[in-house]
Amino acid sequence: MGQDNDQSTGDGVLEIGRQLLKGTPGAVVVEDPQRWRSRDVRLLRFSLNGQAVEVAAPTHWTLLEVLRYRLDRIGSKQGCDKGDCGACTVRIDGEAVLSCITLAAEVEGRAVETVEALSTGRADEAGVHPLVREFDRHGAAQCGFCTPGILMSAVAFLDQRVASGAGAPARAEIAAAIGGNLCRCTGYVKILDAIGAAWPLLAPSEAAAESASASDSESGNTGAR
Ligand code: FES
Ligand code: FES
Repeated sequence: MGQDNDQSTGDGVLEIGRQLLKGTPGAVVVEDPQRWRSRDVRLLRFSLNGQAVEVAAPTHWTLLEVLRYRLDRIGSKQGCDKGDCGACTVRIDGEAVLSCITLAAEVEGRAVETVEALSTGRADEAGVHPLVREFDRHGAAQCGFCTPGILMSAVAFLDQRVASGAGAPARAEIAAAIGGNLCRCTGYVKILDAIGAAWPLLAPSEAAAESASASDSESGNTGAR
């Protein structure tokens, strides 16, 4: 009897979910009827890496769970799952956030970016974000488990730095920006090198100044007359 009631409640919610999931034309809709068996299910609408998403998920799920287990965005890693390691770092409205301790319901109507965004947005001629290229050039990843989280913390820091008009970050400032991201392999030296090397690639005025200075020294123009 109890089982029948549960089944009937589940089917009712399932039907409501199906109706809700008709959603916005053009949006990515993830529908999985087998998961609509709980009354505590919510339809979420947000932007993921620039694309509108509608997804149904239990109300108690974290953003990390929705990203990995409903949307198949597995770049964000599930490390400690309690806010200690930084492997799950994503951006919400530009800010670096730990997705394992963020309820998915909190991102309703907001812009979420995962590490997958770095292979599409602002890709350079090599087809990747300049920060990713510098990680590769400097050998800043070993096992790579921490890398997506560190990339997202770093890109949030660098973008905010560019927007603020502040100059090139000191190494200690870069270290502080990724202070919540743990890496068991690299010793951090090459990670800091890579983030520092990405700065002039992301800050147009710095790049222009460096290029002007290089061309002055090539031509012997030191500014003295
Ligand atoms: S998995 Fe989120 S902080 Fe460790
Ligand atoms: S590269 Fe292995 S944990 Fe950082």
